[in-house]
Amino acid sequence: MGLMQVALLCSLTILSLSSLSNSLSSNYYHKSCPKVESIVAKVVRDATSRDKTVPAALLRMHFHDCFIRGCDGSVLLESRGGNKAERDGPPNRSLHAFYVIEGAKKAVEAVCPGIVSCADILAFAARDSVVLSGGPRWDVPKGRKDGRTSRATETALLPSPTFNVSQLQKSFSLRGLSVDDLVALTGAHTLGFSHCSSFQNRIHNFNSTHDVDPTLRPSFAASLKSICPVKNKAKNAGISMDPSSTTFDNTHYKLILQRKTLFSSDQALLTTPHTKTLVYKFATSKKAFHTAFAKSMIKLSSINGGQEVRKDCRFVN
Ligand code: HEM
Ligand SMILES: *[C@@H]1O[C@H](CO)[C@@H](O)[C@H](O)[C@H]1NC(C)=O
Ligand SMILES: *[C@@H]1O[C@H](CO)[C@@H](O)[C@H](O)[C@H]1NC(C)=O
Ligand SMILES: *[C@@H]1O[C@H](CO)[C@@H](O)[C@H](O)[C@H]1NC(C)=O
Repeated sequence: MGLMQVALLCSLTILSLSSLSNSLSSNYYHKSCPKVESIVAKVVRDATSRDKTVPAALLRMHFHDCFIRGCDGSVLLESRGGNKAERDGPPNRSLHAFYVIEGAKKAVEAVCPGIVSCADILAFAARDSVVLSGGPRWDVPKGRKDGRTSRATETALLPSPTFNVSQLQKSFSLRGLSVDDLVALTGAHTLGFSHCSSFQNRIHNFNSTHDVDPTLRPSFAASLKSICPVKNKAKNAGISMDPSSTTFDNTHYKLILQRKTLFSSDQALLTTPHTKTLVYKFATSKKAFHTAFAKSMIKLSSINGGQEVRKDCRFVN
């Protein structure tokens, strides 16, 4: 077997691992629901014009969906009976705007009932959110199925903002994502908001020798302390991810270089030569970031999961 065949085989194995059973395609709804993407885009656009926090929420919701049981809409299910669903699990504080996906689903059902999965609608909405914020557009692969299981306890499988690079790398590689995907996707933190609870460990009793994480720029640490003066208080307090938190630019990488980023997991990207090189590359070129982000989003959103096309995104059929 030549080198080419080995390379091809490897990439095929990775592809089939990341897309498990059903394969996605670009023209999946071409005949059955040709207008689906414009219907979803309109709902997301209208919601964003009323509430500027919607795009960040939808992008993060899609990430959480894909990291737990694949992109199967499990994040959209409501708790029922004795079962506490993902959206009621611990790291859900910034998960909001579920109503946008539910509204998009209703609008789609009115035109092509029973055809389009909630997981696909969320994948479209995440892409539209990035486009509306001035980021890149990509062609979303389609044909995801919705899952029937959602457990609050499984949100523990999400990466934590206290992770170092090896922990992040492991979390991503379990989903077929590379270190390059990790660095590119982290740029999503150019959008949105973080609560104090997500970074307070860095500014209060960091460890036995340092009250404040020494990798934080001291002036920035001081401003974080003024917003979050006491640990575990003021549950709604927090700060924008970056000063241009509704614009999908490469500011987040610049902040990492300035040591003014909120999470240890993002700051940690400077601790290995490869991730550091990529942070510099994306900080220098918004275009390089956008190209890499779109490519990695297609990989993230192709992690497969479910079995059915849900009628209502909040409940299994
Ligand atoms: C690399 C591992 C990641 C970690 C540890 C992480 C962690 C976090 C944390 C702690 C927050 C703040 C939650 C809060 O306090 O309200 C957050 C917000 C956010 N994350 Fe991540 N995240 C990661 C990767 C990603 C990825 C891959 C995406 C999307 C592609 C993403 C998109 C977002 C967005 C858009 C927000 C803002 C949400 C909002 O304003 O509603 N994150 N993330
Ligand atoms: C997040 O989880 C908490 C605790 O389980 C729950 O009370 C709250 O309603 C959840 N928030 C959202 C937005 O689902
Ligand atoms: C990352 O954290 C894990 C768990 O705490 C630890 O075992 C590992 O040595 C750390 N890796 C680096 C590179 O710091
Ligand atoms: C506290 O954290 C700093 C920075 O990561 C490190 O240099 C120091 O050794 C840590 N101290 C302890 C006791 O772990």
